[in-house]
Amino acid sequence: MFAAYTELRNAQAVKEYLVKKQLVHPDFLPVKEMGMIYFPIIQKAVVPRAKVVQTKISFSAREKPQTIDELLKGILNPQEMELLPRSQEIVGRILILEIPDELSAKEKSIAEAYLKVHRAIDTVVRKERAHGGEFRTRTVRILAGKKSKETVHKENGIELKLHLEKTYFSARSAHERLRLARMIKPGEEVLVMFSGAAPYPLVLAKNSDARQIYGIELNPLAHAYAHENIHTNRLEHKITLHYGNVLEVLPKLKRTFDRIAMPLPKTGEEFLPLALSRIRSNGMIHLYAFLEEKDIPAYAQRIKEIARNARHSLRIVRKVKCGQFSPGTFRMCFDLKVEK
Ligand SMILES: C[S@@+](CC[C@H](N)C(=O)[O-])C[C@H]1O[C@@H](n2cnc3c(N)ncnc32)[C@H](O)[C@@H]1O
Repeated sequence: MFAAYTELRNAQAVKEYLVKKQLVHPDFLPVKEMGMIYFPIIQKAVVPRAKVVQTKISFSAREKPQTIDELLKGILNPQEMELLPRSQEIVGRILILEIPDELSAKEKSIAEAYLKVHRAIDTVVRKERAHGGEFRTRTVRILAGKKSKETVHKENGIELKLHLEKTYFSARSAHERLRLARMIKPGEEVLVMFSGAAPYPLVLAKNSDARQIYGIELNPLAHAYAHENIHTNRLEHKITLHYGNVLEVLPKLKRTFDRIAMPLPKTGEEFLPLALSRIRSNGMIHLYAFLEEKDIPAYAQRIKEIARNARHSLRIVRKVKCGQFSPGTFRMCFDLKVEK
C-alpha cells in the first residue's frame, strides 16, 4: 500500500491536502511511528511536505459505521425487523422511538442499537403518550443513554433548550417556522399566540427583519425556558414574552399586529375572533388545524363564518400542508389575509 509520511508537526497540513485531493484511503487509519505519521493513501502521488512510499506497515482498519439492521440481526427476526419504525424524531440529542407493542420485550436492545448508530444523540426514549392536555405535552420513557429529558435543539440558526415531557416541541415544524419567517416584511410587528419555549419567536426574529416579535404562553415552565432561550440567542431586543392565557393577556395589551401566528392546531379557531380584533389592515393570520383531506373545505367555510360573525373580511390566501398528525390527518396552516 502507498503511504504519505511526514513529521508530526506537518500532520494537519498534509492531512488537509490529502482530503482535498481525495487521496485518503477510506479503509485504514494513519499510524504514528518514531516522530513520524504515515497516512495510507489510495495511489502514488506528489504530496507537499510529505514523502510518498510503498510500505508494508500494517494499518488498522477504520471502524465502519454499522446500520440498525446489522446491529439488530440475530436480536430481531425478519418479521420483527419489518415492524421497526423507519423514521424517528430527533429533538436536540434525544431520539424518540415509536415502538410497536409487539417489540416491547426487545425495546432496550433496539434503543441501544439506535444509540450506537446515531453519533449525535445521547438518549433514546420511547413515546408513551402523544401530545395532549392544556399544555400539549407528551409522555416519553428513557430506554438508553443519559437519564435526562432536557435537551438543546438547534434549527434555523437558533438554539432551543426544552424539556421533552414538560414543554411542547415538534422538530418537524422547522420548515414551517422558516416559511413564516420568510414572509415577514421589514419592520413588521408579529404576535405568536401559544409561544411555548419560543421556537417560533426565535426563528422569526433570527430570520427576518421584523421590528418586534411578541409571544404569549400559558405553561409556566415553557415560558421560563422561552426567557432563557431568548437570552441564550441574544434576541432579547427583538422578542417580548408574556405569561398567561391569550384570552386574558391579549385584551390587556394595547397593541395591534401586522402578523399573528396561531400554532395551536387542536382548538386554534376558537381564538380567531380575538386575533381578528388585533390584526392590522392587510395583516396576515396563520391559523393551524389538524384536518383530514375531506374536511378541509368545511373547515375553510367555518373560518369564513367566524370572520363574518366578527364583521371582518378575510381571504384564504393559501392552505399549506405542513406536517402529519397521524396517517391521513394533516397539520394544515391557513394563511389568512385580513382586509379591514
Ligand atoms: C402546540 S403547542 C405550540 C408551542 C410552540 N409554539 C411550539 O411550536 O413549540 C401550544 C402551546 O400553547 C399553550 N397554550 C394552550 N392554551 C393556551 C392559552 N389559552 N393561552 C396561551 N397559551 C396556551 C400550551 O401550553 C402550548 O405550549
